[in-house]
Amino acid sequence: MLKVLSIFGTRPEAIKMAPLVKALAAQSGVASKVAVTAQHREMLDQVLSVFAIKPDYDLDIMRPEQTLEDVTSAALRGLSSVIADWQPQLVLVHGDTTTTLAGALAAFYAKTPCGHVEAGLRTADKYAPYPEEINRRLTAALADWHFAPTPAAEQNLLKENVAREKIFVTGNTVIDALLDVSQRECDLSQYGLRQVDWQKRVILLTCHRRENWGRPMHDIFQAVKGVLERYKDVEVVFPVHKNPLVRVIAHQVLGGLPRARLVEPLDYLPFCHVLRRCHLVLTDSGGLQEEAPALGKPVIVLREVTERPEALEAGTAVLAGVGTASVRAALEGLLFDKALYEKMARAVNPFGDGQAAQRITEVIMKNFG
Ligand code: UD1
Ligand code: UDP
Repeated sequence: MLKVLSIFGTRPEAIKMAPLVKALAAQSGVASKVAVTAQHREMLDQVLSVFAIKPDYDLDIMRPEQTLEDVTSAALRGLSSVIADWQPQLVLVHGDTTTTLAGALAAFYAKTPCGHVEAGLRTADKYAPYPEEINRRLTAALADWHFAPTPAAEQNLLKENVAREKIFVTGNTVIDALLDVSQRECDLSQYGLRQVDWQKRVILLTCHRRENWGRPMHDIFQAVKGVLERYKDVEVVFPVHKNPLVRVIAHQVLGGLPRARLVEPLDYLPFCHVLRRCHLVLTDSGGLQEEAPALGKPVIVLREVTERPEALEAGTAVLAGVGTASVRAALEGLLFDKALYEKMARAVNPFGDGQAAQRITEVIMKNFG
């Protein structure tokens, strides 16, 4: 049996690794185990429960207001012990979080081959997003196998002299997850969303990135507030990230405003259904830039740069920056320019077809099986 250890620790990694964990579990000849750092706790557990994944190892490292140094050191020590204990023949990490980097480094220290899922995303700015851009570049240097979601991601890796035969373009596993979960039944009234008037134009807002903490986040929310106050047929659904630094600003600026529904982070199932029913998405999230176009929802990206230029090229997303004026202009543009809205809603999703996990599993079996 080929022993494969999948490592993740935060909500988005869990969502994107879940289809692969399932595909590996179903693959004959593979002994698959899951190690979670639990860099996130509640938000990770929500995903584990939706996908019915029971981790074999749970390091439970999350602490309130943890620093990058806390997470890096606890994850590295814990994951090194897991690798020493089970002795996998292949370690899989995902994306660009601190867990990703620690997992790839732990595999390297143990001289265990490492596969990087969602490899090759780049902005070329080492501080945007911070620290993810450097996490993924370092992970690429440590990894042996690179599962790139798109041809553009493959090109980024080739430019960094990663060997062509070690790169596999697979699509993004988030589309596998989305297509699976969004087909399931869901009653949205259970999730603090009873008051939402779906006849109005509902903006789905998420915002959590480290580089947006403080002033940028405040300015973004001011733009949202301005739009809500001016246009009575607009509502906002904002599942607020668990990070206390995000929660304070969100509630300060948007709390108590009519038609601003600030709710707890949603389980992936209701979240997919909100995504399906909303009018547009306003977000600094990485994953949402990929998911929203699969359901025909235009995305306004709350960043100065994106590592997903495919979305801009395909016309499924626009970059709004993080200033009050630019965010408000982007919002009003999409709310009132019908032709622009239709064009973005109809653009073809460039991020995958729902078969990524199967492709990655096939590559693993061909090369190791
Ligand atoms: C992390 C990732 C980021 C990813 C994001 C997804 C790093 C450096 N950052 O950022 O790349 O986009 O997750 O959401 O890896 N908290 C809870 N409960 C939870 C989760 C978080 O209370 O379930 C609070 C804790 O106080 C924790 C804080 O949020 O200390 C920050 O969590 P952390 O994982 O360090 O950073 P994120 O900003 O969530
Ligand atoms: N998501 C969720 N519930 C929420 C908000 C987001 O399930 O309340 C999902 C979303 O569909 C996407 C992922 O979480 O797949 C994005 O996570 P996040 O924004 O935390 O991280 P990022 O994508 O920025 O790394």
